[in-house]
Amino acid sequence: MTTLSDAVAKRRTFAIISHPDAGKTTLTEKLLLFGGAIQMAGAVKARGEQRRAHSDWMKVERERGISVASSVMTYDYNGKTFNLLDTPGHEDFSEDTYRTLTAVDSAVMVIDAAKGIEAQTLKLFEVCRLRDMPIITFVNKLDRESRDPFELIDEVEQRLALDVTPASWPIGMGRSFLGCYDLLHDRLLLVERSRDKKGAEGESCSGIDDPKLDELLPADAVAQLREEVEMVRGLCPEFDRQAYLDGTMTPVYFGSALNNFGVRELLQGVADMAPAPRPQPAVGRLVEPTEDKISGFVFKIQANMDPNHRDRIAFLRLCSGHFKRGSKLRHSRSGKTINVHNPVLFLARDRELAEEAWPGDIIGIPNHGNLGIGDALTEGEELKFTGIPSFAPEYLQTVRPADPLRAKHLGRALQQLAEEGAARVFKPTIGADWIVGVVGPLQFDVLADRIRTEYEVPVHFEPTSLHTARWVECDDALKLKRFVDSNQGAMGTDHTGAPVFLARNAWHLDRAAEDNPDLRFLKTKEQI
Ligand code: G4P
Repeated sequence: MTTLSDAVAKRRTFAIISHPDAGKTTLTEKLLLFGGAIQMAGAVKARGEQRRAHSDWMKVERERGISVASSVMTYDYNGKTFNLLDTPGHEDFSEDTYRTLTAVDSAVMVIDAAKGIEAQTLKLFEVCRLRDMPIITFVNKLDRESRDPFELIDEVEQRLALDVTPASWPIGMGRSFLGCYDLLHDRLLLVERSRDKKGAEGESCSGIDDPKLDELLPADAVAQLREEVEMVRGLCPEFDRQAYLDGTMTPVYFGSALNNFGVRELLQGVADMAPAPRPQPAVGRLVEPTEDKISGFVFKIQANMDPNHRDRIAFLRLCSGHFKRGSKLRHSRSGKTINVHNPVLFLARDRELAEEAWPGDIIGIPNHGNLGIGDALTEGEELKFTGIPSFAPEYLQTVRPADPLRAKHLGRALQQLAEEGAARVFKPTIGADWIVGVVGPLQFDVLADRIRTEYEVPVHFEPTSLHTARWVECDDALKLKRFVDSNQGAMGTDHTGAPVFLARNAWHLDRAAEDNPDLRFLKTKEQI
């Protein structure tokens, strides 16, 4: 029988972060191939290709079955259970990405060997850093002309302020890329030997001076490898697991996901180094994964995934306890008990009914909108997990239905999208239009498309003259009421009814803040 501590010890819940095009989709697919979760190359790739074109991307998203099944992928490899959480690549969807990062214990950062650290890599890395998340780096596309590997590791060290320790070292690059030397296990990994889809084990060596290397590699390549490995070992610190776990050191693998090269080593690296489910911070205490009582938090909501059942799925990261189908859990926000009788476990491309799940696992809970981002489910304890970010809307637009008679339907759609976390929605106190706030402007297109297809309300988004929205709070309810009443033209409410100040310009906001020192004008609001 599986014990709680065994189940926790064998789990690795992680995400891949990268700049678009660095090879995340390809790597994901190869990891799943190794894990036996998919049989055929191309299954995940198809989505990557379609996603590239904006309109195609929406089409794919509409066929939600695909996108949701691949948002969590669970597979086994060498006695470990991996939960790989997908993060949307486009920067306009980074809210979702950031929240997903709160549900993983470690990350793999993919870097294009020709490009190094790119804008989106940096942004995502910063989020990981906030959580001191352990990161393994995979430098991809060594089969192409790349930048000098020393330069690349130097860039990681300098720009991310991390200690870097190569786990493998490339032998050549581009057309003359021969393979890697595994610095952790002293093995030679040759490209031509890894043609079969799972790659070869590699050739064990007694060390970098092993004469075997002279037999297997051209003389100039061996000479260069020995020189570079000596330099690497002299320049870089040795792998220090604690430093990695603390998020201050990253081991770096080199490879080519497209050619299956280096993927096995990376996967083994995640198995060996990456942390098992970590304790989760909550108000007042840390929740240990080995606690008997079940607890978890919702980090993502996806609506209407299956066009035939207009359902919503709340993605719950289990933080402690042994979950079984039918478990009765207390919903933190409402205080109500939820009977989780039809949870979904995500096994590669299919949804399966989950009979049980363990800390670190993600379960999907179908619901009709009562579960929201940040909500905790527990076996009774009143818990509030912390660190689930909320984002300030940076772009505001008004939205109206093409057919005024559909206004009520639009209201319902916006309410649901706001609860799901897809957008912020404000209703001005005076006036009939809704105002929608998003983090990236492309979200407007996606929202318009979703409202039209999922709720059958064609809508127009239009620019507003508003500058920004701020949630207004005050410890003194009377003062707050007075402010709301005397600023009706600039007030509205969010989808929970909380008061929001809609500022026309920066001066308007500054003025309101100066005139009302007891009020707090908040850029974001906790989800709960
Ligand atoms: P993403 O999810 O991070 O956006 O990247 P994705 O895996 O979709 O890869 C982006 C492009 O880089 C793809 O090429 C992919 O084939 C290529 N690629 C990924 N890994 C490697 C690698 O190790 N070596 C080389 N040479 N290329 C790699 P594409 O031309 O955009 O698509 P496709 O026509 O090849 O499918």
